[in-house]
Amino acid sequence: MRVAVLNGVNLDVLGRRSPEHYGGLTLAELESRIYAWSKELECTTRCRQTNHEGQFVEWCHDALDWADGVILNPGAWSHYSYAIRDAVELFTIPVLEVHLSNIKEREEWRRQSVVSDLATKVIFGKGPDGYREALAFLAENAKAGEAGAEAPPPEETS
Ligand code: DQA
Repeated sequence: MRVAVLNGVNLDVLGRRSPEHYGGLTLAELESRIYAWSKELECTTRCRQTNHEGQFVEWCHDALDWADGVILNPGAWSHYSYAIRDAVELFTIPVLEVHLSNIKEREEWRRQSVVSDLATKVIFGKGPDGYREALAFLAENAKAGEAGAEAPPPEETS
């Protein structure tokens, strides 16, 4: 299972941003947890973060060529970027949207995400563990897919 983890705008300053919402981990610490979880779950993961919307879109395009699953936290872009929504729409693989904080219980403008209806699953308010849950979901999904592919065709009954 090859997983692209794309973190967007302002997630590079985790650890310095409102810890009551985002916790105390830095991005480097979050990414090392993600890599450790990926190892446990036998996923090959590539984590990336950018503050540039066009770069985020490019990385979505790039993931089209190699990833089997995508975990996205577009940060504030989630709430208004139709450019990112259009890029996410290209995926035919599972897309998991993750937010560290509980966006449903914060300011009105954060409650809406323009990518959520395209996501296979949306996880919010679970801090760093949300990324673990997303990875586990993808790993589980991949196993179920393999088992389905290996299973013999259903027997015909008369
Ligand atoms: C966030 C929530 C967004 O509203 C915010 O702009 C972020 C982080 C989260 O992970 O909780 O930058 O996506």
